Amino acid sequence: MFDYKPAADLLHGRTILVTGAGSGIGRACALSLLAHGAAVVLLSRDQGKLERLYDEAEQSWPGRGHIQAIDLSQAGAADFAAIAAAVERQFPALDGLLHNAAALGPRSPIEFYPEQQWQEVMQINVNAAFQLTRCLLPALSKSADGRILFTSSSVGREGRAYWGAYAVSKFALEGLMQTLAAEIGATTSVRVNSLNPGGTRTAMRAAAYPGENPDTLPSAESLMPVYLYLLGPASRHIHGKALSVRDFDPATID
Ligand SMILES: NC(=O)c1ccc[n+]([C@@H]2O[C@H](COP(=O)([O-])OP(=O)(O)OC[C@H]3O[C@@H](n4cnc5c(N)ncnc54)[C@H](OP(=O)(O)O)[C@@H]3O)[C@@H](O)[C@H]2O)c1
Repeated sequence: MFDYKPAADLLHGRTILVTGAGSGIGRACALSLLAHGAAVVLLSRDQGKLERLYDEAEQSWPGRGHIQAIDLSQAGAADFAAIAAAVERQFPALDGLLHNAAALGPRSPIEFYPEQQWQEVMQINVNAAFQLTRCLLPALSKSADGRILFTSSSVGREGRAYWGAYAVSKFALEGLMQTLAAEIGATTSVRVNSLNPGGTRTAMRAAAYPGENPDTLPSAESLMPVYLYLLGPASRHIHGKALSVRDFDPATID
């Protein structure tokens, strides 16, 4: 595992937005980013989970956690524009955007995949990420050192039977990442990458692998050095890359 112990003020002065912050990897990221000095805009579907996270943030890092409940399966252009407007009103720039929220959807052969659930998974995992990115690019472009990190998966890099819309959505995010990286690499200081967290002890993993012993999996907290590195100043040279937590080594990335 990547050995990186950043200073507690690594992200001081930076504002980072995290989707799917209410649970799992997103929650661990939210707390880790706060603990390293960032102001964090926390988006998730479940208002109760967000409020608990907000209370936790207020106790240790008052004033730096900002929550907004949003159901990405239902949100439209006006909702994304409102989030972007609130970010621009409250902060001089947005320094990081972590697309972490995702739906797993059913595990089913393509032939029998339910159409409505296909649309919903693609809406949450891909279309919402596109819309949010588009609306937040002006705020990200104001940052002297911005980051966009898409969350991928092993099944978004090599097709695997029965992973349906989830796998296809992750392939689409890789395409979005590459296209955006090629577009804005030269004209902004925003660096765009994707990251596969790998099998991690969360509710989504348990839903995908109900027979697995969760104790055999790494915790979300144990992945945080890679997320901190990629959302912090040291990763300025990494752009347009499909990365993985498991073998992450910045020295090998050209
Ligand atoms: N865990 C793994 O083994 C693994 C492996 C590879 C990739 N990943 C990726 O890592 C990321 C985090 O996954 P996780 O394992 O931490 O899963 P998780 O615990 O199920 O968390 C998923 C998050 O996405 C949010 N979300 C789901 N549907 C939403 C919607 N309609 N609107 C808004 N937010 C929504 C959830 O919000 P609420 O809690 O508020 O409902 C939750 O915070 C995902 O992109 C996943 O594909 C995970």
